[in-house]
Amino acid sequence: MLKEAFQKIFGAAPELEIRAPGRVNLIGEHTDYNNGFVLPAAIDRFVGFAGRKRADRTVRAHALDFSDAAEFSLDSIQRDDRHSWSNYLRGVSKLLEESGHRLQGADIVVGGTVPREAGLSSSAAMEVGAVAFWQKLISFELDPVAAVKLARRAENEFVGVPCGIMDQFISALGREQHALFLDCRDLKYRHVPLKGEVKIVICNSGVKRALAHSEYEVRVKQCQEAVDQFRKMGVQAESLRDVKFGDLIQHGKHLDKIVLKRATHVVTENDRVREAVKMLEQGDLKYFGKLMYDSHKSLREDYEVSSPELDTLVDLARLQRGVLGARMTGAGFGGCTVNLVERDAADAFAVAVREGYQKALGLKADIYVCETSNGALSPA
Ligand code: GLA
Repeated sequence: MLKEAFQKIFGAAPELEIRAPGRVNLIGEHTDYNNGFVLPAAIDRFVGFAGRKRADRTVRAHALDFSDAAEFSLDSIQRDDRHSWSNYLRGVSKLLEESGHRLQGADIVVGGTVPREAGLSSSAAMEVGAVAFWQKLISFELDPVAAVKLARRAENEFVGVPCGIMDQFISALGREQHALFLDCRDLKYRHVPLKGEVKIVICNSGVKRALAHSEYEVRVKQCQEAVDQFRKMGVQAESLRDVKFGDLIQHGKHLDKIVLKRATHVVTENDRVREAVKMLEQGDLKYFGKLMYDSHKSLREDYEVSSPELDTLVDLARLQRGVLGARMTGAGFGGCTVNLVERDAADAFAVAVREGYQKALGLKADIYVCETSNGALSPA
């Protein structure tokens, strides 16, 4: 599809095509920027780039999903909020140039199947896709983890969103039929097989994540505040990753109430991720599913980033046959839930949740029955 679009727009075939996947986080929410643990999987929804070199330093990019085009010079890369989708490509291009990779002008068509503004990391897929695209076009290769860091910096410094590293990491380094267990402190990771006859089913609440941006920043600050308060009480912690459950019990009563709730989520969530990885490795999907429900409860009550729509989707999921676990996924305040469902029950699950959601709230939920996929920078 990209190829045909490229041919139509630029009147020639593209030199190359690459794609980067979106992601769903199975467990470990709001832990990445606390140096904690996450367990995401790359999904079979992609952002693709088709392109060819130009003789000059101009980048001309068309975004199929926005029916929009943007142009910039590699010699002076600025943000452009009239074509905000292009900022991911601009940011990555700028950082690559600054780190000594001389790029060359290009004609590009970008488009894909990752639902936008749904919390499935279409922006991280754009950033990682942009790195993969330039690598292939100009023939250089970054160490994959260095590439992930650069993609994240594009989001933090150029686009201006203070996200953690999870989304770029999984879009780059995911593996088919596996989740990825990542320690966000030292960036050590391992792929954990998704055993058993299960499917990942994603339910999109259809509610745009209006508060996501501002409230996300508030949570980041509250976590820092929690660390400061724990340190004042003598707990040796550089981040909430270092705070133990026992510290919550021992010092909790001296902490600001909201800050204690935020810390409680992060500390217990980190424990749940480690436990969940064990369960996945032992093939105990039932217990894994229980941890997903617990995670949702903690996000709803302690971290307060769920929404009535997400809660309804999780409650509906619980009632269905073959469901092992369900929770909101991503930053929250709208977006999606992730559900682990027995393979042969997945289609009926999708129908029942869609109907139930319509009945309960009069809203339409898009449901994606997903497979896992490889990341854009995964070593072959
Ligand atoms: C967003 C951010 C991630 C992570 C999640 C919450 O997706 O981009 O870095 O913090 O929210 O787990």
